[in-house]
Amino acid sequence: MSQYILVLDEGTTSTRAMLFDQGGACHGSRSAELTQHYPEPGRVEHDAAEIWNRTFACAQAMVEKAGGPERIAAIGITNQRETIIFWDRVTGEPLAPAIVWQDRRTAAFCRKLRQSGEESAVQARTGLLLDPYFSGSKISWAMHNLPEVAEAGDRLAIGTVESWLIWKLTGGLHVTDATNASRTLMMALGSGSWDDGLIDLFSAPRDALPEIIDCAGQFGTTTLFGGEIPICGLAGDQQAATIGQACLEKGESKGTYGTGAFVLTNAGSTPPKSRKRLLSTVAWQIGGKRTYALEGSIFVAGSLIQWLRDSVGLIGTAAETEEIARSVTDNGGVYCVPALSGIGAPHWQPDARAAISGMSFSTGRAHIVRAALEAMAHQTVDLKTAFAADGADWSRLRIDGGMVANDWMAQDLANMLAITVERPQFAETTALGAAMLAGVGCGWFEDLHAAAAMRGAVDEFEPTIAKTVRQKRLDGWQHAVESVLGAAH
Ligand code: G3P
Repeated sequence: MSQYILVLDEGTTSTRAMLFDQGGACHGSRSAELTQHYPEPGRVEHDAAEIWNRTFACAQAMVEKAGGPERIAAIGITNQRETIIFWDRVTGEPLAPAIVWQDRRTAAFCRKLRQSGEESAVQARTGLLLDPYFSGSKISWAMHNLPEVAEAGDRLAIGTVESWLIWKLTGGLHVTDATNASRTLMMALGSGSWDDGLIDLFSAPRDALPEIIDCAGQFGTTTLFGGEIPICGLAGDQQAATIGQACLEKGESKGTYGTGAFVLTNAGSTPPKSRKRLLSTVAWQIGGKRTYALEGSIFVAGSLIQWLRDSVGLIGTAAETEEIARSVTDNGGVYCVPALSGIGAPHWQPDARAAISGMSFSTGRAHIVRAALEAMAHQTVDLKTAFAADGADWSRLRIDGGMVANDWMAQDLANMLAITVERPQFAETTALGAAMLAGVGCGWFEDLHAAAAMRGAVDEFEPTIAKTVRQKRLDGWQHAVESVLGAAH
C-alpha cells in the first residue's frame, strides 16, 4: 500500500527529501548542503548538476527508508524560486552555472528598462517589478553573454529549479507550475500563460521555455527509483509554505524566515494591484483556477546569521544567537540594515549595501547580534506598513522557516508587529505544503481545505513590549534604513 508522499524541498542553501503520511506526520528526512558560488561581488551561482545529484541522492535515501517505490503514492516538489537553469535537451546536462535569485548582475539592465518607462506596463502584466531578483533579466544576460547558451539553438532548455528536477526525474518532460512561472517576469498574471511581448523584452527563445501547468495533478512519472512514482505536486517554496500554513482564505498571511524572508497574504481569485511596490503573484493554480497572493520579499534573513557565523566569525552557531540576544537588555542603540544583496520590498534598491550603525565603545558583540536578529522584525514591520497601505493589513502572522525556532525572535516579531504571531510546532511548512499539493494531485484529498488537516498544533506569541520602547526601536530603524537608502542613490 502506498503510504507516503515524498517531498523534494530544494532551497537556496540545502536540498532535502522528506516522507509524509496522510496525517501530516514526517517519517524521515535527508538533506544535503548546496555549494554557493560567488564569482564576483553581486554574483551568486549554483551548479545545476550538483542540485540534481544531491536532490536525487536524498530522494533515493527516502525511497529506501519508505521500503521501496511502491510505498510512495506521489512526489511533491518545492523549490527556491527565480533561480534559472540552462540545459541541453540532448545530453540533459547544464550549459552554464545556474543564476541564483540573489544575483544582482543585471541591476544596470533593470535600471535602464525602468528609466525607459517599462516598469508600469511590466507590473500591470506580471505583478512584478523590474529588479534583478526575477528570472527575466537573468535570461537576457545569459542570451547576450554566454555563447554556450545563446548558440545552443533547438537544444536549449530554460527553466526554474522545479523544471530542471522534473526534466531529470522524467527523462525529458519540460514543464513549470504557475507559481514558479509567475516569478519569471514573462508570465501574464491574469491568464497564466507566457506573454510574447515580455519574452521578447528578455530575449528568451520561446521554444526553450517550459509549458505552464497546475500545482496539483498527475504531471509525469519517474522510474529512477526502481518503480513508477507519479509527480503530483509543484510549487515555489514560498507558495508551498503559504499552503502548508493553511493560508487558504483571503487575508490570511504567513512569513517564512529562511535564507531570505517572504510574507505572502492570500489575495483571493483576482490578482491584487499594489501601489506600495509589493508583488502580485500566483499562490497556487489547481484545475486551471488561480488563487493569488500579495508578497513582500526580504532578501536577507537567515543568510545574515550565516554570514555573521561564517564570514565574520562573530558567532559559533546560529542557535546561540538566542542566548546572546537575551544577554543584553536592549540593542544599545545599534541597528543592522542587512542589505548584503541589495534591499527588496518595499524599497527595491539593488545597489544598497548593508550597514551596522549606532556603535560606541560600550557596544559589545551581544548588541550587534541582537541588532541582527532585530532586523528581522524591523524589515517585517516595513512590509506590514506597505501591506496595510495596499488594503491588506495582517491581523495575525503565521511564521515558519529555520530562523523561527529562536523563541526570542518569534517574540520580537510579535512585539514589533503588535499582533499575534503563530508558529506551528512542526516547522517544515514548505515541505508540508508540497505534500498537501501532491496529496490533492494523487487523490488522497479532494482539495487543499481537506489537505489542511495535515497541519498540526501551533504556539502563539502575543505582543508584550511597551509602546514607547517599540516606538524608539521603530524610529531608530527608520533612521538607519534611510541612511542606507540615501547612500545607494
Ligand atoms: O524567492 C526566493 C525564495 O524562493 C528563496 O527561498 O527558502 O531559500 O529563502 P529560501
